[in-house]
Amino acid sequence: MTRPYVIGGNWKLQVTSLSEAKRRLEEIDSHLENFDIETFIAVPSVFLYSVSTQNLKLAAEDIHYEESGAYTGATSVLSLVDAGIGYTLVGHSERRIIFKETDEEINKKVKLALKYDITPVLCIGETAKERETGEYKEVLRRQLVVGLQGVENLEKVIIAYEPVWAINNKALNPDTEIKPATPADAEATHSFVRRVIEELYGQNISQSVRILYGGSMKASNAEELLKQPNIDGGLIGGASLKAETLIPVHRICSSLN
Ligand code: 13P
Repeated sequence: MTRPYVIGGNWKLQVTSLSEAKRRLEEIDSHLENFDIETFIAVPSVFLYSVSTQNLKLAAEDIHYEESGAYTGATSVLSLVDAGIGYTLVGHSERRIIFKETDEEINKKVKLALKYDITPVLCIGETAKERETGEYKEVLRRQLVVGLQGVENLEKVIIAYEPVWAINNKALNPDTEIKPATPADAEATHSFVRRVIEELYGQNISQSVRILYGGSMKASNAEELLKQPNIDGGLIGGASLKAETLIPVHRICSSLN
């Protein structure tokens, strides 16, 4: 089965002015008419009502697990609907580790996004320590099993495997060298993730769900990663901030298509 590539960006809190956000998004958007590749960029939610794009889809970086209520600082799924936003990241490692989000909360977010027809991009990934001790498979399995509990329409979900040790974030990796997964390690883990999804949802669905790789992906390593049979795209942090670093990844996807 061929799964169409998806390229996702995650700006985190790296762009902090609306004029700058618009300038960068417009530039990326203008290139995308040359490619038939599903592309979204997650931006700080304060920008979501104020930017519009043609080919590029916008995403939230997170939503709250309740639709509304007394939750200071949170973003409501209903605001995404109101702003016409079709994607949201859920359970990014920065949310799990820095903001102490649990698998149970993440599961509620996945279900809430689906309730409103918003594509949740469920992020999973193990820390350097969990990789070293070999418990990473159990961690990934738990993140999938609990994160997807009660989710029926997995077809609408995108999975992003982002090993924490590969994410270019010193706060998450104070004691380890940050480096992308090797294509072979990434492929082995993606294939494991697909097997867990097969156990949960059966073969047809597991073969159609897109599993993105994230963690220091950039033009110089994207080709080898995207060539792997179980890697269906990327969730890109730093290299998604500018057209000049993101669009080369689109060229690579096109050449592999
Ligand atoms: P980097 O590509 O900057 O390592 O970030 C990855 C990431 O966290 C995307 O969600």
